[in-house]
Amino acid sequence: MKIKSRNELIDLYIKFFKSKAHREIPSASLIPENDPTVLFTTAGMHPLVPYLMGQRHPLGKRLCDVQKCIRTGDIDSVGDEVHHTFFEMLGNWSLGDYFKKEAIEFSFEFLTSEKWLGIDKNKLAVSVFSGDRDAERDAESAKIWRGLGIAKERIAYLPKKDNWWGPAGETGPCGPDTEMFYFTGEKVPAKFEPSDSRWVEIWNDVFMQYEKKKRIILVDGMGCLYDKEFKINETLFEILESANAKKILVVNNFRKEAEQLLEGKGYGVFSFDGKIKKDNELFFKKLLEEYSLNADEVIYFDHDKLNIDSAKSAGIKSVFYDGSINKIEKFIIDNIGYYVELKQKNVDTGMGVERTLAVLNGLSDNYLASGLKEIVEKIEEISGKDYLGHEREMRIIADHVRAAVFILGDVRGIKPSNVGQGYVLRRLIRRAVRYGRMVGIKDEFLCELAKVVIEIYGKSYDEIFKNREFVLIELRKEEGKFGITLEKGLKKFGSLIRKERRLNGRDAFLLFQSYGFPIEMTLEMAREAKKEVDIQGFKEEEKKHQELSRTASAGVFKSGLADNSFMTTRLHTATHLLNAALKKVLGSTEIKQKGSNITPERLRFDFSFGRKLTDLELKEIESLVNKWISEGIEVRREEMPVKKAFDSGAEGEFGAKYPSIVSVFTIGKISKEICTGPHVQNTSEIGEFKILKEESSSAGVRRIKATVS
Ligand code: ALA
Repeated sequence: MKIKSRNELIDLYIKFFKSKAHREIPSASLIPENDPTVLFTTAGMHPLVPYLMGQRHPLGKRLCDVQKCIRTGDIDSVGDEVHHTFFEMLGNWSLGDYFKKEAIEFSFEFLTSEKWLGIDKNKLAVSVFSGDRDAERDAESAKIWRGLGIAKERIAYLPKKDNWWGPAGETGPCGPDTEMFYFTGEKVPAKFEPSDSRWVEIWNDVFMQYEKKKRIILVDGMGCLYDKEFKINETLFEILESANAKKILVVNNFRKEAEQLLEGKGYGVFSFDGKIKKDNELFFKKLLEEYSLNADEVIYFDHDKLNIDSAKSAGIKSVFYDGSINKIEKFIIDNIGYYVELKQKNVDTGMGVERTLAVLNGLSDNYLASGLKEIVEKIEEISGKDYLGHEREMRIIADHVRAAVFILGDVRGIKPSNVGQGYVLRRLIRRAVRYGRMVGIKDEFLCELAKVVIEIYGKSYDEIFKNREFVLIELRKEEGKFGITLEKGLKKFGSLIRKERRLNGRDAFLLFQSYGFPIEMTLEMAREAKKEVDIQGFKEEEKKHQELSRTASAGVFKSGLADNSFMTTRLHTATHLLNAALKKVLGSTEIKQKGSNITPERLRFDFSFGRKLTDLELKEIESLVNKWISEGIEVRREEMPVKKAFDSGAEGEFGAKYPSIVSVFTIGKISKEICTGPHVQNTSEIGEFKILKEESSSAGVRRIKATVS
């Protein structure tokens, strides 16, 4: 079958899986709600994590969709024929229903049957997982492929780095996968060589049967983390921080001093008295008991050999710290993650629309396939230059503008800023402007391109159509702002780089502060000029400027407890109570939920309200939430058609898209919201609720940060 446009491919895919009893779900927001470890939805499975973990999905066990995704890790690779930041992913899911056999058979049928894509099966090859200490070699998938007629030479066994997918964030569902490749060259070789780039990956079936978890690091205080003068071992401290895991400091004496030293840095402190010291194995057992941990959930290092032996006897993975930072770093990297079997075996598949479309049309350049092609043509028209000879520049512009339109136009619409997603958006827009100059575009041009993007994608994603004005206004503002400083900034950069061999931190910061050059842009320009940048110096300058200390480059979403899902669950239910309390105290008509974000440390809730809240109001809201918590109210979950949910008074997120059947969470007579969950079963599980901060988020929108303990 000849597939020319993205619409045709998407429609065909959905039709196929509907014929196999799958239900279609709408694309979720690009901004994940409950995963603080990633900024954007990176794959179709991301919004489905609660269901892969075992929660029932209202539409059943077989789902399919096309999901908008952004992978920021690929920003620097954009410019070649196949990389994108934004892309669309087709997917089908089995939530504890079918597994390897049916998943592979579905993929094979869709790819090769004349009724569907009709690809010649002699042009296909596959890879399967070769096995390691975490999971066995996937001979089962290989056998299924053989049964379908894929020759032995066309099946490659590859390790985790190639044939394992997930988790999307740092922890969560994941598993071995089998990937399908299409030969784009002339004469198909008998043997599949994965390193031969003419074999292009088009589809990935992941067998999500594991959950990746993070171990807690037990670290010895004096002797490892600090010395007798309580001076921190900075290098070790940084390694521990970058592991981004929960840490418990093990101290002998000087508990107070240790606590003071690490106050606010997210370390638990466990100290032991003389009695336990006599039998250190018992000591470790007590430690585990106090934190309700199994030996398998922690790793430990110490500079005392006896303690290491005792920890080992207690079944804890431990290593002796002999002053070698490399050894400790390797130990942490090798042992911090571990895998447990999920309650249910799932299938998660992903087929990139852009790439598949290119392959089906015999194109090696994704930017010439429907969707991106139209944007590229508009760039040619505006610049008066040909794509040929300016491919890299035009691809970067096309990709970045498309991504920017989707971020701005999302239901959880984001504006350019210096933090989190807003910072990524700013980088994309400013880089597109710079590349625009490089192909000779002098005037503002982003809005013209954005209109093309909205025209192409607005039918599938009506949010970008509805938010058209917002998208265009914000793009124009950001482009205008940067346009003013760009010329001068480029001159400044030129003169600095001529004088210095290595751009110092102060100058890199000046380019950011006064000329609006994101550090990544300065780095890229320096690379082009074959110069270096003192990035450490830049970070120090940045730190000095309080208001900028939370830019993306400073690592915004670090959290010490990212693996503690019970905490986020409690905070999630607390968010519903907070929403209800706000309405009760401030009046129900004015308050509208504008967004929420939960990390294991705190909840963040944005809502429409015209002024600052008084201290009295905040106290009242806090007490009301605590009253509901102390009443021990049951949290009920029901499934119903989306219309019935709204008719019965359930609240939904403004502008969000819902599947035809939704989950509604009801907390007594207090709250009723359409929501994915997860939630606690009874409000008494939440603990004490405390408001940390109330501030302005944007015009007419207030923000509350709160936590529970
Ligand atoms: N989640 C899998 C991927 O993104 C399907 O490739």
